[in-house]
Amino acid sequence: MNKPKAVMNKEATEEEKRFDLTLRPKSLDEFIGQDKLKENLKVFIEAARGRKEPLDHALFYSPPGLGKTTLAGILARELGVNLRTTSGPILERVGDLAAMLTDLGPGDVLFIDEIHRLNRLVEESLYPVMEDFTFYISTGKGPMASSVKLAIPRFTLVGATTRAGLLTGPMRDRFGITAHLGFYTEAELSRIALRSASILKIETDERGASEIARRSRGTPRIAHRLLRRVRDFAQVRADGVITLQVAKDALEALEVDGIGLDAMDRRLLKALVEKFSGGPVGVETLAVAVQEEVDTLTDVIEPFLIQAGFLQHTPRGRLATPRAYDHLGLPRPKRASELF
Ligand SMILES: Nc1ncnc2c1ncn2[C@@H]1O[C@H](COP(=O)(O)OP(=O)(O)OP(=O)(O)O)[C@@H](O)[C@H]1O
Ligand SMILES: [Mg+2]
Repeated sequence: MNKPKAVMNKEATEEEKRFDLTLRPKSLDEFIGQDKLKENLKVFIEAARGRKEPLDHALFYSPPGLGKTTLAGILARELGVNLRTTSGPILERVGDLAAMLTDLGPGDVLFIDEIHRLNRLVEESLYPVMEDFTFYISTGKGPMASSVKLAIPRFTLVGATTRAGLLTGPMRDRFGITAHLGFYTEAELSRIALRSASILKIETDERGASEIARRSRGTPRIAHRLLRRVRDFAQVRADGVITLQVAKDALEALEVDGIGLDAMDRRLLKALVEKFSGGPVGVETLAVAVQEEVDTLTDVIEPFLIQAGFLQHTPRGRLATPRAYDHLGLPRPKRASELF
């Protein structure tokens, strides 16, 4: 199947990782949106600094591209400490974790991305570290096995995940700060697009930025992606300035519709409506029908469709809402309208 990955893929591409260095806000004041969370973090940071203690361990969870990694970096900066970064899948062995831990200075931030993907042994060896900064290294095998206690400087673990539900109870309980990042409003995304446009020296008027914001699926990463692609259109097909009309034409060409659904979103809704009469249908069946992984459906595609009111999770599976039919320009089925 032919999928234009650049727009569809909701994870960061290589190009984006490069741009991130310049576009990532570096302080809480520069970070747009998530106001309540920001205010709380300011208090926690100030309190920790006042007590000269490291910040409590913090867990951020949200769909991709909403600012978890950005916030981890900001925390380290605001605390004035080093940031060390790793991820669940990279920490394959307990030894890999040991290498990270022994490298930490007092108060540092250790960021573990995709923390729900830690393997069990690594995860379990992290528990005593999180609790009282003691790391147990086992030596020898069988009856000769013993363990050595290693004191780790007090530090802050920041975990990020797109699936809080996959985190084990004991892991979740060891975080003093747990925060969910929600989708951004159009006004916030508009400010994000204008800020980034000015950093990248892209000429954009307010209405052009609002149009990009409106179609960004509530997600800063997508706002950035659309901004760069719309710039290409502005440069080649117009005079370089992103106006409302330039943005509209470009987004249409990119197959991003009026409310920000992309081809993959529509493919999912269409399959649900056309192949399964709107559902309810199990997620595995739906995933096969659209040739995507179940995880991609649940973590990446569905959260926005649910938030925007196109899809519901029911005990019997996924269900298209009347709004989904309206959006696809299809008549609402009688049965579906009876369900609501
Ligand atoms: N509040 C914000 N203000 C401005 N830019 C933001 C904000 N939040 C995120 N961004 C930008 O959006 C992009 C994605 O953010 P980030 O990488 O932090 O998301 P994430 O939640 O870690 O995603 P993933 O789950 O894929 O790791 C970055 O380029 C970042 O600069
Ligand atoms: Mg991230």
